Amino acid sequence: MIKMKHLTGLKNLTRLDIEDILELAEKLEDVYLGKKKSNILDSKVLATLFYEPSTRTRLSFETAMLQLGGKVISVADAMKTSSAWKGETIEDTIRTIENYCHVIAMRHNEVGAADKAVAVSSVPILNAGDGSNEHPTQALLDILTIKKEQGKIDGLKIAIVGDLKHTRATNSLTIGLSNFNVKLLLVSPPEFKTSNWVMDIVEERNCSYTQTDNLPEAIKEANVVYVCRIQKERIDDINEYKKIKGTYVVNRELLEKAPKVVTVLHHLPRVGELSEDVDDYPGAAYFRQTFNGVLLRGALLLIVLNKIPQKL
Ligand code: NCD
Repeated sequence: MIKMKHLTGLKNLTRLDIEDILELAEKLEDVYLGKKKSNILDSKVLATLFYEPSTRTRLSFETAMLQLGGKVISVADAMKTSSAWKGETIEDTIRTIENYCHVIAMRHNEVGAADKAVAVSSVPILNAGDGSNEHPTQALLDILTIKKEQGKIDGLKIAIVGDLKHTRATNSLTIGLSNFNVKLLLVSPPEFKTSNWVMDIVEERNCSYTQTDNLPEAIKEANVVYVCRIQKERIDDINEYKKIKGTYVVNRELLEKAPKVVTVLHHLPRVGELSEDVDDYPGAAYFRQTFNGVLLRGALLLIVLNKIPQKL
């Protein structure tokens, strides 16, 4: 079983590591469905330290901890409500919070913030998103969802659609999936393609991929369509934003043209790029995906706290 102290990104995780994490997450399903009880983390405290807005990531971390018997302390709007507002560095904040908890889940707007935290922290750091860099826990829950919905990962054609340049969730997803025998269909306008540092990893691992701006064609080929939000807050030039806004909208009409039912995923929140008329499409899995976030984050807490049970 994987041993891991921190999780800053998916770059250094192997296929076996990812499979271990997914297996443990699936074993937690009965606990999180309320069919079994576990107090395995009863002496542990999680601190969620979020410098950027969040609904799913912070709350799923917190419920994952609470339902395993752990406790939670939380800073939800750290730029305004923590000493960051007074100019405290990430490092000093971590040097303080590590005295109050056993593990920290942190989200920050700065690329590399998680690495800064790891450099000074005596407790595990779980990166809940650092700027436009990585969002590894999201990608792991996405891969878990693909596995649960499709029954496998190898052999699938997975379309990832939208603002691939600025989306940290799709950076991590692309890197994570490149460990498997999949074909990635990366769909974006040419100016919003996946960053070179991510594509270098995909190429090193000989993962098959195409980059295209043709969404209907990609949907016809894909088993899974992963839609992402345009990251408005990370695009400096409003004209750039206007160029991509509304370019790709995945709706029922488009999906009905596919030769088979595709699994539709979204990291959420959606803001126009995934139509609500998809919600009752048989392959729509984005709200099940949010439950898988609890399983996955529970598994990560057990791993970094070195509390993997023999039996659940
Ligand atoms: C993502 C994020 O914050 O990077 N949200 C999430 O964690 N589900 C994606 C987004 O905000 O678009």
